[in-house]
Amino acid sequence: MISIHASEKQLNIKGKHFLTLADFSSDVIKGILAKAQKMKNASYTGEDPKPLNGKILGMIFEKSSTRTRVSFEAGMLQLGGHALYLNSNDLQLGRGESIADTAKVLSHYVDAIMIRTFSHQTIKELSSHASIPVINGLTDLYHPCQALADLLTIQENKGTFAGQKLCYIGDGNNVAHSLMIASAKVGMDITIASPAGYEPNAAITKLAMQFAEASGAKIDITNNPLEAVEGADAIYTDVWTSMGQEEENDQRKKVFSSFQVNKELVQYGKKDFVFLHCLPAHRGEEVSAEIIDGPHSAVFQQAGNRLHVQKALLSEIL
Ligand code: CP
Ligand code: NVA
Repeated sequence: MISIHASEKQLNIKGKHFLTLADFSSDVIKGILAKAQKMKNASYTGEDPKPLNGKILGMIFEKSSTRTRVSFEAGMLQLGGHALYLNSNDLQLGRGESIADTAKVLSHYVDAIMIRTFSHQTIKELSSHASIPVINGLTDLYHPCQALADLLTIQENKGTFAGQKLCYIGDGNNVAHSLMIASAKVGMDITIASPAGYEPNAAITKLAMQFAEASGAKIDITNNPLEAVEGADAIYTDVWTSMGQEEENDQRKKVFSSFQVNKELVQYGKKDFVFLHCLPAHRGEEVSAEIIDGPHSAVFQQAGNRLHVQKALLSEIL
């Protein structure tokens, strides 16, 4: 019998929505990463280098973006397709047309929708009324495309997930949630350190714990950054104030002041730790310049990987 390598398995996700990694098996997630790595490899030509010839991705943005917007647009072009940037303020959505009607109309024009929105409920509603795949480009609860890029970057730097300890320092936000689900799925240990009252969402933590039980990963949530970073192979942080929380900025700067990733903190991690950040970053707040711009930082490799994981995802879903 011919054995099929995991990376060459049929992923069977054509036509599926991509709202959270919780909906995908560990095999599918690893399969997307394997395909992304192949696509990133300069020698990769693929079975069909333009698998999305003539396909159109509609990209709805209710919030700002550099990486998500440009990597999805460039990715679609590289795959032979096209992407439409749709600012929600310029759509009738901005004047009160419903999400349901928007989903039904766009389903006649484009082949998939990527949306960056506030409430996760909005993307759920959009996907329930769309007859085409809907991809999450960030909601208040999740940022799954980012987590795929994070996993690929860890795999590239550490070679494996098993036995690795990822440490996330900061707000228990969308990025932390997706990272926690992603780690639990692939069997990587994760410790999250947040100030009291800013821990990850309890229901999402419970869900991640269930996945961790199946994969053998360990999840720890603490309020102590020193304890969290102890022996970490990867140290990750994100902004203290996410988009939509701007009025809390002053308060958050005070609450998070002892949660900066700096040279004092990282000395508790492994000597060869890799530093990750989804970007955009605020040097001097969640991370010091010497860490994000220092030798351990892989943040631009990580940003670059958004392109490759999303190309793999798009080519499997569309
Ligand atoms: N990391 C990320 O999603 O960046 P953008 O906000 O620039 O898209
Ligand atoms: N947590 C951040 C991530 C930005 C990519 C935000 O939601 O603004």
